[in-house]
Amino acid sequence: MNSKTTEAVKELKKAKNAVILAHTYQPGEVQDIADYVGDSYGLSVEASRTDADIIIFCGVRFMAETAHILNPNRKVILPAPAAGCPMADMIDTSGLSALKAQHPDKLVMCYVNSTAQIKALSDICCTSSNALAIAKSLPEDTEIIFVPDRHLGTFIQEQTGRKMIFWDGCCPIHAQIEPFMIEQARKKHPNAPILIHPEAPAESRILCDYALSTGGMCDFAAKSNENEFIIATELGLIHTLQKANPGKKFYPLSDKLVCPDMKAISAELVLAALEGSAGEEITLDKNLCLQARRSLDRMLEFSK
Ligand code: 13P
Ligand code: SF4
Repeated sequence: MNSKTTEAVKELKKAKNAVILAHTYQPGEVQDIADYVGDSYGLSVEASRTDADIIIFCGVRFMAETAHILNPNRKVILPAPAAGCPMADMIDTSGLSALKAQHPDKLVMCYVNSTAQIKALSDICCTSSNALAIAKSLPEDTEIIFVPDRHLGTFIQEQTGRKMIFWDGCCPIHAQIEPFMIEQARKKHPNAPILIHPEAPAESRILCDYALSTGGMCDFAAKSNENEFIIATELGLIHTLQKANPGKKFYPLSDKLVCPDMKAISAELVLAALEGSAGEEITLDKNLCLQARRSLDRMLEFSK
């Protein structure tokens, strides 16, 4: 990235009282100009408490929507309006409403990777970092409808023993992780623990050493006495981990684990968004925001 862009971003950010939030799957150059880099949970917390006038949200649409819902008085800009999340788009309100009608006595827990409309129909939201604790906190005798990620849902069910009904959605990036990839990586780096994201299918996850959210992987790597790690998630996290732990080695499970939506933003595009020549301001219907906020507030309240 050229230093002119970095300088221009810095100046404009100050002049406009803007903050740049970036997910750990963003390109390295975007992470490097961000004020805060984190996982979905950390980004939600950061977005809810910032007093900046403008939030440049470097992530995908559901994340920028979440920032807008949690802090409606700030201007939230998504630099690449086309950056969505295929998993979030795998469920719609008519599908969830039908499922709720079939199981009226169950609680709906939605993964944060969902649209505002789905959050509005849900009882509580979660991210991959707090999903287990939130599932455990729900009344024991109540079954949980979990949407939209069946793989994260399966992980929660295995770990908590809760009775659950899943929506059949998945992350197309993590769904590519196959057992042979884990076996090959293990042979290549026999001393490195394998950290995998719970969005990955169970048959691969069970071959790994730890199933962790991206934030969980960062904490684990920082505290661990190990010096090398195999990282089974989207490639962007390697940049985050390597920067935070220069003395340690991080091997991506596969160079193919790249989310094109997460890679739709560049440093140049962040600058253009700050200048007002690119990006979309995220706005949602007020009532929708209020409804969606209940499930997010319950998550934030719980995770305090
Ligand atoms: P986390 O940042 O919560 O681990 O989520 C991963 C993800 O796929 C975001 O799109
Ligand atoms: Fe969605 Fe998967 Fe991309 Fe995350 S990595 S934004 S879950 S498609």
